[in-house]
Amino acid sequence: MDKLLLPVLLGTNRKGRNSIHPAKWLVGEMEKRAEIATKLFDVGDFALPQDDYGQGLKDLFPDWRDTIIKADGLVIVAPEYNHGYPGTLKAVLDLMLREYVHKAVAFVGVSAGPWGATRVIESMVPMVRELGLAVTFSDLNFPKVQNTFDAEGKLLDAAFEKRARDFLDELVWMATTLKWGRENVPSKFHQV
Ligand SMILES: Cc1cc2nc3c(=O)[nH]c(=O)nc-3n(C[C@H](O)[C@H](O)[C@H](O)COP(=O)(O)O)c2cc1C
Repeated sequence: MDKLLLPVLLGTNRKGRNSIHPAKWLVGEMEKRAEIATKLFDVGDFALPQDDYGQGLKDLFPDWRDTIIKADGLVIVAPEYNHGYPGTLKAVLDLMLREYVHKAVAFVGVSAGPWGATRVIESMVPMVRELGLAVTFSDLNFPKVQNTFDAEGKLLDAAFEKRARDFLDELVWMATTLKWGRENVPSKFHQV
């Protein structure tokens, strides 16, 4: 069976961001699984123009465009910024639309405080629904992330290993099911 293509999008370009640690660590966990192919995208690598916005810009970012076209799902690593998510993350997601339809999305929430960006994820659900993505119900939350990884990005709390396994199991189930659906059940949004 073909591997599921499940890219990871790191959702902040902040200098000194801690979200890079869970993002890179999760990519490592995904790479251990035979059924997953993945790749880390970083919103900091998108030179977004300040005088234009949206789908008309997608050809400026061919790697992201082509990966999302081929993808079976997406992992979004969202930092908590004043109980919301960064505009840069939204701007990168808004580069595409139809290409997301009937694919899975799973959220990783990262915060300095005790809530692990749960509020942020809740607020992103209606937005990704409009993109046509289908949300898993198993988030991976990193509260107090500064205590969970050391400065080199080494995981300090082994409890996250099982949490990540459960998170990925659910994403794989959703992505597999939706892939079968895209390939077998007609829809005006994609070719069967
Ligand atoms: C503009 C801004 C607002 C923030 N607001 C919150 C917040 O509301 N709650 C919280 O727990 N942490 C907040 N933080 C801290 C981040 O959640 C923390 O730095 C975490 O590591 C994720 O962001 P990072 O990847 O930029 O480090 C904020 C950080 C910034 C830069």
